[in-house]
Amino acid sequence: MSKVPDMSVAVAGVELRSPVIAASGTFGYGVEFEEIVSLDKIGAFVTKGLSREPMAGNPTPRIIETAAGMINAIGLQNMGVRAFVEEKLPKLRTIKGAVVIANVFGYTVEDCLEVIRVLNDAEGIAMYELNASCPNTSHGGMVFGTDSGLLYELVTRTKGASRRPLMVKLSPNVTSIGQMAKVAEDAGADAVSLVNTFVSLAIDVETRRSRIANVTGGLSGPAIKPIAVRMVHDAAKAVRIPVVGMGGIVRAEDAVEFMMAGATAVQVGTASYADPRAVENIANGMRKWCVGHQVEHVAGLTGAAVL
Ligand SMILES: Cc1cc2nc3c(=O)[nH]c(=O)nc-3n(C[C@H](O)[C@H](O)[C@H](O)COP(=O)(O)O)c2cc1C
Repeated sequence: MSKVPDMSVAVAGVELRSPVIAASGTFGYGVEFEEIVSLDKIGAFVTKGLSREPMAGNPTPRIIETAAGMINAIGLQNMGVRAFVEEKLPKLRTIKGAVVIANVFGYTVEDCLEVIRVLNDAEGIAMYELNASCPNTSHGGMVFGTDSGLLYELVTRTKGASRRPLMVKLSPNVTSIGQMAKVAEDAGADAVSLVNTFVSLAIDVETRRSRIANVTGGLSGPAIKPIAVRMVHDAAKAVRIPVVGMGGIVRAEDAVEFMMAGATAVQVGTASYADPRAVENIANGMRKWCVGHQVEHVAGLTGAAVL
């Protein structure tokens, strides 16, 4: 087939030229990667999680390598939503064709609403991704995304305040991801994204201490891929809104696998640490894969697995 495949997909009404998106926390605020990756060539990028106030994050060590992955406990370090709008967004607006997804989090619903309000007034953002994997301090630290009642409240109120499409990023540390995806959909989410990292622990047997100062951290990378693919499949069966899949994508074939499991688009996180050009390379690789497999429109791969 010599025809150029159509690589565009739509997520919650937002048109992306490629289904491959740079995941939150692994691509800074986008501008740092400007020299390395053409932001107008990838599907979109998600900013580092933005909070109401700047945050310093956790003490070090906060990133370690594991077999086929990494554990991080960065602690959602970020410059705060106002600094992002003032210092980073104007630069991003000058990159024609860059699609910016702002990742939002907070320790109370009010915190999240305040971040959304600040972003609502700023131009140059296509969509919000609400990180439901952080603890709610007014409910004893219980993680929003692991309690269906808390998740429902967070999503309804955030959606109510949002002037842009809202994608809800689900925690994978739950018994039924399908049920949590349905809760997000019922509460008004325009899309769901998954997975965030899996809570994990690595012990240094010489010192008998955790290898991460925070004791536990989130596992990401190829080690989690088969679990993430299964969860994307479960979520896609449970909801009608688009599912954006991620977890251990390194090669174009990994991205294709997530789409066949039911994802409309995919995100790439940890792979950008080993190769800062990973997102662009995977997007190019997917196009070649489509050419080689006579796929005229990449969107046709969504849910195409025969299971
Ligand atoms: C160092 C690091 C920082 C991250 N920071 C965030 C964050 O701020 N907000 C968020 O929603 N996810 C964050 N994530 C999770 C990733 O976006 C992604 O969901 C996860 O790593 C799984 O994908 P991967 O295996 O391709 O990395 C972070 C991941 C890593 C490795």
